[in-house]
Amino acid sequence: MAFDKAKETQGNFPVPAGVYAEQVTLVEHYTDRLFRFRITRPAAFRFRSGEFVMIGLPNAEKPVFRAYSVASPSWDEELEFYSIKVPDGPLTEHLQKIRVGDTVLLRRKPTGTLVNDALLPGKRLWMFSTGTGIAPFASLIRDPETYEKFEEVILTHTCRDVAELKYGQTLVAELKDDPLVGDAAKGLRHYCTVTREDYGFRGRITDLMASGKVFDDLGLPPICPDDDRGMICGSMAMLRDTKAALEGFGLKEGSNSQPATFVVERAFVD
Ligand code: A2P
Repeated sequence: MAFDKAKETQGNFPVPAGVYAEQVTLVEHYTDRLFRFRITRPAAFRFRSGEFVMIGLPNAEKPVFRAYSVASPSWDEELEFYSIKVPDGPLTEHLQKIRVGDTVLLRRKPTGTLVNDALLPGKRLWMFSTGTGIAPFASLIRDPETYEKFEEVILTHTCRDVAELKYGQTLVAELKDDPLVGDAAKGLRHYCTVTREDYGFRGRITDLMASGKVFDDLGLPPICPDDDRGMICGSMAMLRDTKAALEGFGLKEGSNSQPATFVVERAFVD
């Protein structure tokens, strides 16, 4: 019976070439829209904190793969992912049902632009995220290099409601006791806002930048190209609008080959 159930969600298909088959070690559901999971890490799998990788399930001859930011730092023994559950989403419809011991497929080559190397040196690093867009920053705030490169690090996270902030809030609270980055991360500022229910800090980050409220709340000057660097991760609309806001402050988009003052990534699945 247990075997049949596993077959139902996991299938019984050969692992495609060039793909790692890893075991789920933890699953935690936050809301009916959000969950995280951890998997074993192949010894040969290297990535830079902030990069993403293609994830799939062994449930078809040609499995569906989607881009997922690795939410754990590059030094971690396991790989962590933070996911939305899309009703009828080709991957997440099945992925949301995984259990400890199940198999998750991982393509070999990580990539991405939300990496420290794609930014010119600066004083402050702003990480702008909405929803599951916090995932690459969950990796970067646990990487000592982030604090070596920047004097101040600000992580903004905007969600529809308070329950959706929990993943980031738990992470930041636990970071303070982390033996590797705990001391360096004491300077990390975590600015959470919600848009669809009552909370101390309300509103889209784009509006809060336009009004200047985020800068007043944090006691920081408005963003300027000399001191500030930005990374953006969220929905397409959020990327577009936050990018326009940073350009309005005089920042310029960079890439791995041409570092500049801000970088953009997508955290979309399905
Ligand atoms: P809102 O509730 O006003 O749509 P989602 O879960 O849909 O990705 O949304 C996550 C958060 O991102 C929500 O708080 C949402 O606000 C906000 N958001 C959506 N679109 C934008 C945008 N274009 N710019 C900034 N924030 C946005």
